[in-house]
Amino acid sequence: MFIRLIGVAVSLFLLGTSAHLVAEEEFRAAVHPLLRRFCLECHSTSEKQGELDLEQFDSLTRVKQHPGIWQRVLDQVRSREMPPKDRPQMSAQQRRTFLQWVEATLNEVALPKRATRDRSCCADCQTPTTPIRSAT
Ligand code: HEC
Repeated sequence: MFIRLIGVAVSLFLLGTSAHLVAEEEFRAAVHPLLRRFCLECHSTSEKQGELDLEQFDSLTRVKQHPGIWQRVLDQVRSREMPPKDRPQMSAQQRRTFLQWVEATLNEVALPKRATRDRSCCADCQTPTTPIRSAT
């Protein structure tokens, strides 16, 4: 029984790790190039238009540390506010890849938080408490 549990824990860990690796690879191969091509002209560390520096995001880990910024990125790209109308636009396929990746990554960040929130909530608590911000 105990051995079985260890087996389950190990495979869950491996599953989590490989999911992270897939998402990381996708970011490097597909998402980051889109960011560079369509966003960094204005949202580089030096330009920082709209007070938004997207150049700082060079890995999945960095993205996960700032879900608030990426929620805004998701909203702006989904509503076609960004990139601005007079700038080069992503193809339909690129847009889909970008939005799906950001959405999946935000969901992944939100899941453990929701679990924490539920546990910290009293039994008869009806109103959801505000999400707990990550320590970083
Ligand atoms: C030609 C310059 C330019 C490009 C290219 C551009 N942006 Fe912007 N962006 C701006 C400016 C200027 C603002 C601030 C004013 C505004 O909201 O229109 C802004 C605002 C934003 C905001 C809102 C910031 C906030 O506080 O919520 C987000 C999110 C954003 N951009 C994401 C992106 C993403 C993602 C891309 C690439 C897909 C992109 N932008 C491409 C110029 C640009």
